Amino acid sequence: MTFKVRDLGLAPEGRLKIEWAEAHMPVLQKIRERLVKSRPLEGIRISACLHVTKETAVLVRTLIDAGAKVSLAASNPLSTQDDVAAALAEEGVEVYAWKGMNVRDYYETLAYALKSEPSITMDDGGDLTALVHKLHYKESGEDVQIAKNILGEIKLKDVIIGGTEETTTGVLRLKALSAENKLIYPVIAVNESQTKYLFDNRYGTGQSSLDGVIRATNLLVAGKTVVVAGYGWVGKGIAMRARGLGARVVVVETDPIKALEAYYDGFYVTSMDEASTIGDIFITATGNVDVIRGEHMKKMKDCAVLSNAGHFNVEINIQDLEQLAVASRRIRPEVDEYKLPDGRRIYLISAGRLVNLAAAEGHPSEVMDMSFSNQVLAVLYLVKHKGKMPPGVYKLPRKIDYRIAELKLKALNIRIEKLTEKQRKYLQSWRLGT
Ligand SMILES: NC(=O)c1ccc[n+]([C@@H]2O[C@H](COP(=O)([O-])OP(=O)(O)OC[C@H]3O[C@@H](n4cnc5c(N)ncnc54)[C@H](O)[C@@H]3O)[C@@H](O)[C@H]2O)c1
Repeated sequence: MTFKVRDLGLAPEGRLKIEWAEAHMPVLQKIRERLVKSRPLEGIRISACLHVTKETAVLVRTLIDAGAKVSLAASNPLSTQDDVAAALAEEGVEVYAWKGMNVRDYYETLAYALKSEPSITMDDGGDLTALVHKLHYKESGEDVQIAKNILGEIKLKDVIIGGTEETTTGVLRLKALSAENKLIYPVIAVNESQTKYLFDNRYGTGQSSLDGVIRATNLLVAGKTVVVAGYGWVGKGIAMRARGLGARVVVVETDPIKALEAYYDGFYVTSMDEASTIGDIFITATGNVDVIRGEHMKKMKDCAVLSNAGHFNVEINIQDLEQLAVASRRIRPEVDEYKLPDGRRIYLISAGRLVNLAAAEGHPSEVMDMSFSNQVLAVLYLVKHKGKMPPGVYKLPRKIDYRIAELKLKALNIRIEKLTEKQRKYLQSWRLGT
């Protein structure tokens, strides 16, 4: 088996989507043009666990043009664009992804992606990297058992040069692994590049999460009270865009500095306890568990809408919602309605999975242009420094981050100011003052 997708017949639509993404990812295309000639990834096998979107397809095509062999699994059961997966399969890419897979399918597809005995793991959320480590440390669990059945006795540690990680939650998991001295290879935290989190997390998730809420519900955002949980990079973007659409935005934070920042950015800051009584639309973006629980749901207004933009579907306690409800039904393609004993209704979008990917198309290509340029350059960096990087969590060098920003500015036809020699010296001097 070299692919498993929903329907190969969707490939023509997928190809058009990928073409659209390519036209809006100039930096990645520039990098691709260079790599096609030098093919520095010849002989490199990449196992990727990413949201299978049109932008990911451009990344995959770039890696293949650079000489790599890629096997791709979805990093979320609901985020795959089936037409894009079909287009990739038709091009001969090993892709194991379809929208609506169950958890068992999800674990199986992770294992299929590892079958190629990768030189590099490319992850979004840490599930693939965690699986490699669980196999290495012979841990138990459903994912490990399934992988063992599919993979047999492969020794991944001996073949993997390194890995990359796309998102905040995945980086947190890697750091936890590293803190226990258990990381077995170096991983580059792509999320920590400024050209990633400042744009992808903030403007990408900010816009696309609202897009997901709107596509799922077709509600008017203006005049609504939108509660944003978490004022990190993702939360900031969502709050900014919700305000732009005319919502009253309430921010819930646990970090006192971020809470103050939200306050001085002009948002109403309060606890989830109070927010739950005033919110119309809730969007969680914390990367944390149980942010909205039964005790909050009990206080919500009739027709409150719950959604999540954080990586995993753990931020809204769905079990609590199911226990509180006397009935539930699918009322729109991406919306489940839960009826409480007193008749109030609570709506949950895309089963609490990333609203921007499950109910919309994920980030616009323009921001993924920078995120995925970081991914490609991270792979090249790992290959170039093979054997020289001890296990650990690394940032891409600042020079590479700046290079991506320069290329993006160039593509946007934006000129910036250059420091003069005198200015450079002035900034480096401690003697010059009053
Ligand atoms: N949907 C997407 O496409 C997408 C894109 C990028 C990141 N993410 C995910 O979004 C999540 C947030 O990412 P980020 O980069 O903004 O992280 P971040 O660390 O910058 O921000 C998270 C914020 O949540 C706050 N927080 C933690 N627990 C909380 C709680 N119980 N209540 C309220 N606030 C709480 C933290 O103090 C922090 O300020 C992660 O899971 C990340 O992987 C999703």
